[in-house]
Amino acid sequence: MDPIIAPFPAARLRRMRNSPALRALSRQNTLTVDDLIWPVFVMDGKDDETPVASMPGVSRKTVDRIAKAAVEAQSLGIPAICIFPYTGMDARTEDCAMAWDPDNLTNQAIRAIKDAAPDIAVMTDIALDPYNTNGHDGFVENDEIVNDRTVAALVKMALAQADAGADILGPSDMMDGRIGAIRTALEAEGHHNVTILSYAAKYASSFYGPFRDAVGASAALSGDKNTYQMDPGNSDEALRLVARDLAEGADMVMVKPGMPYLDICRRVKDSFGVPTYAYQVSGEYAMLQAAAQNGWLDGEKVILESLLSFKRAGCDGVLTYFAPAVAEALRR
Ligand code: PBG
Repeated sequence: MDPIIAPFPAARLRRMRNSPALRALSRQNTLTVDDLIWPVFVMDGKDDETPVASMPGVSRKTVDRIAKAAVEAQSLGIPAICIFPYTGMDARTEDCAMAWDPDNLTNQAIRAIKDAAPDIAVMTDIALDPYNTNGHDGFVENDEIVNDRTVAALVKMALAQADAGADILGPSDMMDGRIGAIRTALEAEGHHNVTILSYAAKYASSFYGPFRDAVGASAALSGDKNTYQMDPGNSDEALRLVARDLAEGADMVMVKPGMPYLDICRRVKDSFGVPTYAYQVSGEYAMLQAAAQNGWLDGEKVILESLLSFKRAGCDGVLTYFAPAVAEALRR
């Protein structure tokens, strides 16, 4: 007889919860430092940082400070760091040419991190929003976010990042066909081992608000991203997007945001069994930090519990602004 359906008192499910040892032995999922990818914001200047108001505890850092942060992350055992550039309105142009400039902030940061902390994997973001005057991830023509012209620009951006030494490229733009185009270009240029972590199921979410402050896109953004990011009501579409991006050459896939989309993480993992990641985005960070700072929640405990939920939902790792704090907590 299946012990699960054995009647009480043969089946006392509390028996296995009765001591730390038995709980440890029977625990299915654990969070380790290996699960963490740390997103950071890089800005222009030297030996400086500025706090992001809507993300207490997070600041934009100059390239030299990002390199120092990477050294610290590497010594904590964090496997990857993900770079996002801050660009003010004056640095944004309609042609977004800064996006593929070999010396843009992202590419400077890639090289600085590779120099200072060669063992940490460097991930990037591929989308035009940090460089675009209108804050969109693609070029805008007659109020339309145009696909194919954007993809051609994203390919140039990807190659510049690969040339700078990026290990993981993260197309977050949600244009159609970009994974295949980037993969083909990487192969043609000899970047056979550069990996792609596709933001495959990226929803048009209001949880990105604080991030847009952090990268200077809030003021710039005109309208919304609903014609390219996914509708929050959809679930099957996420599987089509993941299937498509894998077929085009993605090595890993992402679900974003994280906590409100754990059902999608589980479906993706069950359907494809590929390396699957979630992004615990800026708004999720802000919610937890706000409650913790008010003394309404035990910050460290809810952070660990929230990250464990991604493991339980099938994720292989999580992008989280809490990465260094969590790595330290896991050491204790
Ligand atoms: C933009 C991008 C966004 C995030 C990562 N890349 C915002 C957006 O799509 O507007 C959000 C990350 C976060 O909220 O933490 N390509």
